[in-house]
Amino acid sequence: MYAKFHSIGAYVPSKVLSNADLEKMVDTSDEWILKRTGISERRIASKDENTSDMATKASKLAIKRAGLETSDIDLVVCATVTPDYFNMPATACIVSDKLGIKNVQAFDIASACSGFVYALSIAKAFVESGMKKHVLIIGAEKFSSIVDYTDRTTCILFGDGAGAAVISATDNKEEAFIDIHASADGSYADFLVTPAPGSVNPLSQKVLDEGLNFVQMKGNETFKLAVKTLTKDVKDILAKNGILAEDIPHFVPHQANYRIIKAVGDSLKMTKEQVVVTVGKYGNTSAASIPMAINDIWESGRLKKGELMLLDTFGGGLTWASALLPFAGESK
Ligand code: ACO
Repeated sequence: MYAKFHSIGAYVPSKVLSNADLEKMVDTSDEWILKRTGISERRIASKDENTSDMATKASKLAIKRAGLETSDIDLVVCATVTPDYFNMPATACIVSDKLGIKNVQAFDIASACSGFVYALSIAKAFVESGMKKHVLIIGAEKFSSIVDYTDRTTCILFGDGAGAAVISATDNKEEAFIDIHASADGSYADFLVTPAPGSVNPLSQKVLDEGLNFVQMKGNETFKLAVKTLTKDVKDILAKNGILAEDIPHFVPHQANYRIIKAVGDSLKMTKEQVVVTVGKYGNTSAASIPMAINDIWESGRLKKGELMLLDTFGGGLTWASALLPFAGESK
């Protein structure tokens, strides 16, 4: 039994936060943000729009586009570092309930920006082992809930959104995932961290006074490591599988910073047409960034049935992952 990437869906909130809006909030400029990150705007969820709400909307689309009913889903995995509730219940349980999926295993994973590709690897293992047939995987973030909008070094980067995919069993090897690499190095844990709330820093007045509940990032160090790791990772997975970069029609990197995407794309000698870029309009949506980008190329008709995708991601943990697989759903 093989696993195939059966369908894609995504949801973005309607509220746009532009660079011009940010100029009014912190000491920054549209010119600086564009030049250093390639981001023009990002989407922000409304106050009563939770991670599970965005995830549910993306999931409904993915299930429908796979030609399935919610009752066909036998596992739900939600990748998020901005769950509805820290600790419990898992956002995957809330999404299952909102979708009407009953009596099915559901859990979250916290691998930051690498979450969706990590979830892909979990779905692949469950399907290939014969334990599950149709796995719903989700990358969803309300990142605005952990961003300090007085900190210009982070608030310009992140946005909200969700993406979802159905990974199904198939006996057709042509449709199957080719390979996934996923890895982590906890010695860099302090590069990207939300110090509270957690068992190290339970919620307290000190946490609130010092803003320890907001994301902190060593931007420059993360940037350098991201370029190095992402480049090595894609070169490794291509070499291992005997596939040339020029034969990849859709390179979908994590959307953190256009300079990182360009550096990795250039090192692979990829053309503009091969590299998928959505960071300009959505910012960095962490675990949602890759499925949102895949959804963009599917909805625009660029991604067709059977075409190869190379996914590559890097994030808090530190974690990183890459995947090589055909899109096995129907073309739009
Ligand atoms: N506007 C204007 N100036 C700014 C801003 C801003 N928004 N932010 C920082 N600056 C200033 C700094 O204070 C600094 O000033 P100084 O030279 O006087 O000290 C100067 O600009 C340069 O700052 P750097 O941090 O060196 O800028 P850099 O070019 O590295 O860009 C950025 C910063 C955009 C954050 C970049 O480092 C980056 O993208 N890092 C990687 C992010 C990433 O990949 N994260 C991983 C995934 S995220 C996840 O897992 C959730």
